[in-house]
Amino acid sequence: MAITGGTSKNKTYDTAGLKVPVSLGVIMDGNGRWAKKRLLPRSAGHRAGAENLKELCRNCGNYGVKYLTVYAFSTENWSRPQGEVDQLMKLFVEFFDRYDPELAEEGIRVRFTGDIEHLPENIQKVCREGEERSKDRPKMQLIVAFNYGGRREIVHSVQSIAKDIKEGRLQPEDITEDIISSNMYLPDVPDPELIIRPSGEMRLSNFLLWESAYSEFWVSDTLWPDFGYEDLTQAFRDYAKRDRRFGGLSKKDTEEN
Ligand code: FPP
Repeated sequence: MAITGGTSKNKTYDTAGLKVPVSLGVIMDGNGRWAKKRLLPRSAGHRAGAENLKELCRNCGNYGVKYLTVYAFSTENWSRPQGEVDQLMKLFVEFFDRYDPELAEEGIRVRFTGDIEHLPENIQKVCREGEERSKDRPKMQLIVAFNYGGRREIVHSVQSIAKDIKEGRLQPEDITEDIISSNMYLPDVPDPELIIRPSGEMRLSNFLLWESAYSEFWVSDTLWPDFGYEDLTQAFRDYAKRDRRFGGLSKKDTEEN
């Protein structure tokens, strides 16, 4: 049955023919190329990318996504020129200053995933305050991966488990996949069913390595600042046609046997 959602700024959130994931990951890539095409500095691309994140939140919330995880700054992004790193940090602070009222209006809770403890104190403050201020918002969780690396998250999980073993709370033979998952940064967030990567690259780039074991991938050539409602709708349309088998057989093949 088609569920007809609301409309926002003349957009229709009709899910007929689409499959909307409960948990979605987005790798926001292509800001630099977007700026270069316009003969603008890379900072203009990041600014346009941040603006577009607000739109993505609105569209995902209205489509019924419950958890949206976006890759905003990786543990590897520190190797960019200092000026660009500073600009991304500044943009991060401005984003929540400027857009929190709109996120509040949309009912969007904000959370952060990554090595937050090693970020500059002013950024940690934005994270703490943003999480606290938004904790009762009901519609969707926006999870911002900042100073995030999938491998570092796995290391974090392994270290917590090792501590539990050292302190006698766990035996090595009792380690299971569920225990590894429950020691990740945000264990209550479901694994993403779908990961979208704009800008044509076909790699994970250290994003949600553990959580993406069975995620479907959807890539498009659109650069992140231009990735809009139409692209998102097309991703959900294509996702409806995917046959997620989790290593088993499709329903049809099971019935034939
Ligand atoms: C990758 O594009 C993008 C980033 C490293 C930063 C993503 C950040 C934003 C979208 C805005 C800031 C986010 C928040 C939460 C305020 P790229 O620079 O690698 O692009 P390129 O591959 O075309 O050079």
